[in-house]
Amino acid sequence: MISELLKKAREQEKETERYIGEDERPVYHLSPRAGWMNDPNGFSIYKGTIHQFYQYYPYKTEWGPMHWGHAVSKDYVKWDYLPAAIAPDESYDNFGCFSGGAVETKDGKQLLVYTGVKSEHKEGKEIIRQTQCLAFGDGADYEKFRQNPVIDHKSIPEGWSPVDFRDPKIWFDEEDDCYYIVAGNRTEDGSGAILLFESKDGKEWKFVTVLDRSRNEYGKMWECPDFFELDGKHFIFTSPQFMQARTLEFHNGNGNIVIVGSYDRKNHSFVRESVSAIDYGLDFYAMQTLKSEDGRRIMTAWMQSWESSKAVPEGQKWFGQMILPRELSCKDGRLYQRPVREIENYRKEHVSYRDVDLFNETTLPGVSGKVCDMELELVPNGQSFREFKISFHSNADFHTDFIYRPEDGIAIFDRTYSGFPNDINNKREFPVRYNGGRLKLRILLDRFSAEIFVNDGGSTCSSTVYAPEDAGKISFSAKGSAVMNLDFWKLDK
Ligand code: FRU
Repeated sequence: MISELLKKAREQEKETERYIGEDERPVYHLSPRAGWMNDPNGFSIYKGTIHQFYQYYPYKTEWGPMHWGHAVSKDYVKWDYLPAAIAPDESYDNFGCFSGGAVETKDGKQLLVYTGVKSEHKEGKEIIRQTQCLAFGDGADYEKFRQNPVIDHKSIPEGWSPVDFRDPKIWFDEEDDCYYIVAGNRTEDGSGAILLFESKDGKEWKFVTVLDRSRNEYGKMWECPDFFELDGKHFIFTSPQFMQARTLEFHNGNGNIVIVGSYDRKNHSFVRESVSAIDYGLDFYAMQTLKSEDGRRIMTAWMQSWESSKAVPEGQKWFGQMILPRELSCKDGRLYQRPVREIENYRKEHVSYRDVDLFNETTLPGVSGKVCDMELELVPNGQSFREFKISFHSNADFHTDFIYRPEDGIAIFDRTYSGFPNDINNKREFPVRYNGGRLKLRILLDRFSAEIFVNDGGSTCSSTVYAPEDAGKISFSAKGSAVMNLDFWKLDK
């Protein structure tokens, strides 16, 4: 049975999408079918199809009572919208169906697990409670579980927050024949923790342990956790609120971190080895991963930040987009990211340059456009090389720059002149490990974004950009001399 609220949302999105032209959307980044999108939810495979749900308010380009939007894909690049999956239509989720995960159950159903946020008014005061809830479905329509909520604050350590307790990520572990959930909580010291739960049938859940916690070192509430094994290490992903800037690694506000460690499966004990940022861009949050059928660990994320989410360009009929999903790997205990290889099927009009001497601003025939993929290698020409710069999304009035300074071991992303309507943070410096002065870049541009992968994806930087359609100039320059090799493709769906 579909509730009135869900029916209304489904009608709304069908109606609104007619007025959003394909040419007004990103070409290959998922954007909401209508209205507003934040975190990816339920990023998973169900019966061979890739599903990506998302935090969704179809009525406006602003955050509102959260629904789950729904899209499916066969290759992580081309997405088809399905009708909104769930709406905040129960007493236990009347304030919103917040973030969560999805899994294919042993008996072939698609199980969504999400945070139900309940708002109640008692003695003139609003009381908010966050609990973990289930919905079962067939890949398109879902029925909320009668015994919801299945996890509430009674199952967690005393004194921990019933208000900040959210974002369950679910997976099935074949070896243990068991479902697991990790969820974030804000503990008695006011900062975040990742809680592990287990269930044999996906319905009855038991608290297992605390995998790791912030202890006020890495921000406050830890939102949107994920936990998985990769190349012999274990990884916790989380998006902390209220981070404090430290070196060039962490910036203020909403951040994104990866905790690398080892995991004793039997005792469920995680030992932290390192903590670093996942992406240094201005718009990157709420990462979620899946394991593809061919064994790749693939990540999606909201390519947006809460800080810049009020900067909706005038006339834009949608808000929020996801990164192009990325393949993850681990080398020397560090995370590496590369765009899903499927994007290469959309490359067109290849041009290739070898040994281009760079000093003054250089443009190259065939190298232009707002929707493209490039691989670039830069080799210093003697000791004088001090700086490399690439400008894109550029015309007479607009440009976005990526600058590399080998001596300082830093890169700078600067979108000051990229068309933002508000005076928000538009510049970020980030560390790039020294590579003999050599620089390797992979850059993916879309109409409203830039994703930059430095030195085989050892550092990445993702940001939204709003320069106009004709800002398709791409230019290169260096201070001191360097030689560049470049492969360039337009991207088209
Ligand atoms: C993260 C977040 C989640 C929450 C959702 C609400 O961006 O705040 O913690 O579930 O967004 O839309």
